[in-house]
Amino acid sequence: MPVTHYEWSWGGSLPEILRHSEVKHSLLRDYLVDYFLTLVTSPAQEKIQLTIVDGFCGGGWYVSKSGREVPGSPIVILQAVDEAKARVMQEQQRRKNILFDVKLICIDKDASAVEHLRQVLEQQGYGEKLRSGEIETLVGEFDQNAEAVIAEVRRRSPRSGRALFVLDQYGYNQVPLPTLKQIFAALKQPEVILTFNVDALLNYLSEGNLRSFERQTGLDGAVSSTDMDKRYRGPGWRVRVQANLYQRLTTGSGARFFTPFFVRPDRGHGDFWLLHLSQHWKARDVMAHAHWKHHNHFVHYGASGFDMFSTGYAAKIDDEERPQAAFEFDDIASKSSLASMMEQIPQVLAQRREGVRFRDFFVERVNTTPATQAMVEQAVLSLVREREIEVLGDNGSLRHVKKALQDDHVLRLRDQRSLLLFGS
Ligand SMILES: C[S@@+](CC[C@H](N)C(=O)[O-])C[C@H]1O[C@@H](n2cnc3c(N)ncnc32)[C@H](O)[C@@H]1O
Repeated sequence: MPVTHYEWSWGGSLPEILRHSEVKHSLLRDYLVDYFLTLVTSPAQEKIQLTIVDGFCGGGWYVSKSGREVPGSPIVILQAVDEAKARVMQEQQRRKNILFDVKLICIDKDASAVEHLRQVLEQQGYGEKLRSGEIETLVGEFDQNAEAVIAEVRRRSPRSGRALFVLDQYGYNQVPLPTLKQIFAALKQPEVILTFNVDALLNYLSEGNLRSFERQTGLDGAVSSTDMDKRYRGPGWRVRVQANLYQRLTTGSGARFFTPFFVRPDRGHGDFWLLHLSQHWKARDVMAHAHWKHHNHFVHYGASGFDMFSTGYAAKIDDEERPQAAFEFDDIASKSSLASMMEQIPQVLAQRREGVRFRDFFVERVNTTPATQAMVEQAVLSLVREREIEVLGDNGSLRHVKKALQDDHVLRLRDQRSLLLFGS
């Protein structure tokens, strides 16, 4: 698989940005802005603290195909923080300032890229932050620096342990599973946005190199040597191996919540995941929201509704040459999600006749749905209007909810409906 390596040298020509990198930047920008808006809910809050680690930061500046100069991930992150602060001030009509105590640590193994980035930061007006230590640059491999960076997050916020790791690796082997595990074990509220080029991996793996891949990445047990044996590869082997790798990576990291969506790559580039790992369902919801916003560029190769792995990756390719229609986070996907959820919600409630809190209902399913909480709420409200389900307050009294559900509202199948489902 050809890997396009970006190169930077100050005074030299800028590397041309690939379209999928621009897509990642848009998602990162939106995610960060929404992330801060979600975290700062009270106009009385005086401070928000976060450490952002850009583990594969690059040189900070590119040229687009059309000749426009565009920022790289460190600048995108800094601009998003500025935008979030302005929006918090405006949307909460604050008189009092809020302190965004954000430290950005940029790591790249290429000294020339880091030097380029430092020059770009100066040019873009972030020189003072470089000198004060609010922005730190490190030359070296991410993995070699991970422990020191985790220690810095703990020093800065021993209680909240809040940190976002943007790990935009080339390929698939620069962020070993034990490192992800260490992040999730050592910190209370870490999040990781991880690029993982799963197609490149599957093109590269063979029976001969499987063990060394496992030793290097810690992703043992996800792929068997039979999977790699060309004589036994059926049409579905690629999707099956992808699903196993996804399981191993996400649950193996120690994160509680994840998204498995793919960036739709440029022509000639394989599929790659932009995985989001977190410890809070709200973070996962904000990320799902960002995918819907950039619907032209993200895909999910599974079902809509609450059981997205049921046909899961198996739906992606029915033979090696004929990709099926993917879930594209567009209007069609949105309608199909609503329809699936309206069918599945009564089935779930039929098993929980005492009812279930809306928050619990959503959180129990969040890892296996491409839908956001707002979309699930719409499906529930449609079922309420159709008199299939009812909503109770926490004291058990009936609530006539039309527009907005609260987290502790209890959803329950209406009696008539349960009679129909149970046939008695
Ligand atoms: C795809 S570019 C990153 C671009 C940057 N995240 C952006 O979006 O603007 C990957 C960068 O990772 C660096 N790199 C590759 N392997 C690395 C490693 N193991 N640790 C740290 N940096 C690495 C490369 O030098 C390159 O600058």
